[in-house]
Amino acid sequence: MKMIKLHSFEAFGNIALLKLKPEEKSRAKEIANEIMKVNKRIEAVFEKLKVRGRYRTRNFRLIAGKRKYLANYKENGCFFVFDIRKVYFSSRLSYERKRIAEQVKDGENVLVLFAGVGPYAIQIAKKNKKGKVVAIELNKWACYYMQKNIELNKVNVEVVQGDVKKKIFAYRDFADRIVAPLPKSSYKFLKEILLAAKNNCIVHYYSFSKKGKIEEIKKVIEEEAKKNKVKVDFIFERVVRGYSPKEDIVVIDFVVRK
Ligand SMILES: C[S@@+](CC[C@H](N)C(=O)[O-])C[C@H]1O[C@@H](n2cnc3c(N)ncnc32)[C@H](O)[C@@H]1O
Repeated sequence: MKMIKLHSFEAFGNIALLKLKPEEKSRAKEIANEIMKVNKRIEAVFEKLKVRGRYRTRNFRLIAGKRKYLANYKENGCFFVFDIRKVYFSSRLSYERKRIAEQVKDGENVLVLFAGVGPYAIQIAKKNKKGKVVAIELNKWACYYMQKNIELNKVNVEVVQGDVKKKIFAYRDFADRIVAPLPKSSYKFLKEILLAAKNNCIVHYYSFSKKGKIEEIKKVIEEEAKKNKVKVDFIFERVVRGYSPKEDIVVIDFVVRK
């Protein structure tokens, strides 16, 4: 059998997800069995189908193993359970979660928008015992699992179920730090991000970007800041991962000056 490229499968503890190229479809079962043979913890291998809708969830096709949709996953010392059909999750962001959690100073007010099952919020809350961590998420299933994960990790996070556009008003000038991991449409929420930011708030902003055109995303942020009569200073940027031949997912960190 040909070597399985590492980037082509993602594992959440007991569950492995495969993204198959058309030419790999006929060998799917063989690849899945090999994954299960090498990784004894893996009980199910699914094919990843397209991400869809506001909740960014996926459909999955079972290739090998048991029809088990409940993932038990450990990341950066925290535990997560979630049903892969009902919520969005990507282990490819584990480095980002670590990078941000390491920057948090105890006592900060942190706002995690688009919080999913809580990977950012929980890893941040572990470092931030004196501060307040608020996580806003639209999908009620994601909130259900986030609450379970908060209990599992014995941290304090306030879960707010609802639309960032509506819930944000309770957090005007609240945040020392904001995480905005919705690359597909984060630009639509810049006004809300700026509203919730305190003076000197650090924002971790995820976005799609045409390859090599990160400056265009920064221009969008600057224009929105200008409209909202605040200033922004860019302090960090990186390509998180390639998304398609023409697009990357990038993170831009900036400070809001009010
Ligand atoms: C790309 S996922 C990120 C999830 C999580 N932060 C993670 O890293 O696993 C985006 C999340 O934003 C949620 N979402 C989308 N639009 C939203 C909105 N207007 N208000 C609150 N949450 C929203 C989706 O339900 C989804 O869980």
